[in-house]
Amino acid sequence: MKPINVGLLGIGTVGGGTFKVLQRNSEEISRRAGRAIRMTMVADKDVARAKSIVGDAAKVTADANDVVTHPDIDIVVELIGGYGIAKELMLKAIANGKHVVTANKALLALHGNEIFTAARAKGVMVAFEAAVGGGIPIIKSLREGLTANRIEWIAGIINGTSNFILSEMRGKGAAFADVLKEAQRMGYAEADPTFDIEGVDAAHKLAIMAAIGFGIPVQFEKAHVEGISKLAQQDIRYAGELGYRIKLLGIAKRKDAGFELRVHPTLIPERQLIANVEGVMNAILVKGDAVGQTMYYGAGAGSEPTASAVVADLVDVARALSVEPAHRVPYLAFQPDQLSDVPVLAMGEVETSYYLRLRVADQAGVLADITRILADQAISIEALVQKEPQAGEQQVDIILLTHLTQEKKIDVAIQRIEALPVVSGQVTRLRMETLDK
Ligand code: HSE
Repeated sequence: MKPINVGLLGIGTVGGGTFKVLQRNSEEISRRAGRAIRMTMVADKDVARAKSIVGDAAKVTADANDVVTHPDIDIVVELIGGYGIAKELMLKAIANGKHVVTANKALLALHGNEIFTAARAKGVMVAFEAAVGGGIPIIKSLREGLTANRIEWIAGIINGTSNFILSEMRGKGAAFADVLKEAQRMGYAEADPTFDIEGVDAAHKLAIMAAIGFGIPVQFEKAHVEGISKLAQQDIRYAGELGYRIKLLGIAKRKDAGFELRVHPTLIPERQLIANVEGVMNAILVKGDAVGQTMYYGAGAGSEPTASAVVADLVDVARALSVEPAHRVPYLAFQPDQLSDVPVLAMGEVETSYYLRLRVADQAGVLADITRILADQAISIEALVQKEPQAGEQQVDIILLTHLTQEKKIDVAIQRIEALPVVSGQVTRLRMETLDK
C-alpha cells in the first residue's frame, strides 16, 4: 500500500524524538499500520538545525504553510505549541483536508471545541494522545479502553515539573526557586514556567480528560486553577508528620449537581500508590463504575516518551483512513451530538476535606473559639495538632484536618477565624483527598 506522508511543524525536543522513533522503528510501525509512515516534510524556523536532524530524509522549509497546503502530505503533526500560529496552521491544515496529530494541550483546552467542529466538517481526524501525560496512553484508555464505564472521577499528577519540584522540596528540603531552575535546566518546564507551577498546564490537561471521561465540551475556563508557588516547606513537613504527601492534582469528579473541575495542591494519604509518584513522572487514577479504580503511570514529558504518543496517533490515523468519518472513534469519545450540558460546579459547591494551619496566641480559650466557628458551619474536625511553642515564643502553630465539607463553608469559617484577635496572619488552607472510593 502507498506510504503515508507526514509533515511536521516544529522539530524541537518532541519533534526530534518523533523523527527518530519513526525511523528507528519503521519496520515494526509499518507492520502495525499496514503501510509505511514516513516524515517527508519538516517546517521549522531554524532550517539549519532541522536539516542537521533529518538529513536528506525530509524536505525542510522555514514556511509551515508549505507543509499544511502540500498536496502530498496526508497527516500534519503540530508540535509548535501555544494558541497563536499553531491554531492558524492547524485550521489551515484541516481546511486543506489534512489529518492532524498534536501535542498541544493549551490549544485544545482553549479552542478544542472549535477545532473539532472544523475537523468534523472536513471529515478529518484530530489525534492528541501526546497532549496529556506525555507517553502514557491515557487518552486511548479513557476514550476506548474504559468505554463501558460511567466515569466517576479522574485524579492525576499531570505536570511533571511541579511534581519534580514537590518531590525535591520534600526529599531534600530544597527551596522552591532552586528546584524550579533545575527543572528548567533538565527541559521539563514549559517555555513559560508559570504554566507549570501555577497549575495552568495541569488544568489544560484536566479539561481535556474531563471532556472525554464525562462527555462534556472542553471547559478549561470553568476549572479552578491553583499552583504550587505559594506552598510553604512547613506544610510539606506538617503533612508528612500526619501521614500525607502534597501533590499537585488535577481532579474531575461527577456529582449530582454537576462536575467538579479543579487543580490545586492536595494532601493524599501516603499509603496511596499515587502519593508515591515522584520526580517528573505522571500518574492518573480513573474511577469507573464497572472497573473500579485504574491507574496509569509513566513519563509525562521528554523527547521519546512524548514521541511514543505522537507515533501511536500516526498509526491510529493511518489505520482509520479508510473508515467512514461517522464510524471513527469520536474526538471526545462521545458522539458530538451527545455531549452533555450538565454544568461545571463553582468552587464554592465543591465538597472535600481540608488541612488548615493557623498561628495563634498560646492562651486559654483559643481552641474553643476556633472550634466554635467550625461547629457553626457544621464542619467536623478529623484531627487537631498543636505544635510546641518555640523557645521564647508566645504563639503556636495549630494544624486542623476536617471531615468532608463544602468549600463555601470553609471560606466563611476561615474569614471568621482570621478575624479573631488571637489569630495572627492568614490561615493556610489546603485540600485533602483520600482517593479510596
Ligand atoms: N511541562 C510539562 C510538564 C510537560 O512538566 O509536565 C509537557 O506537558
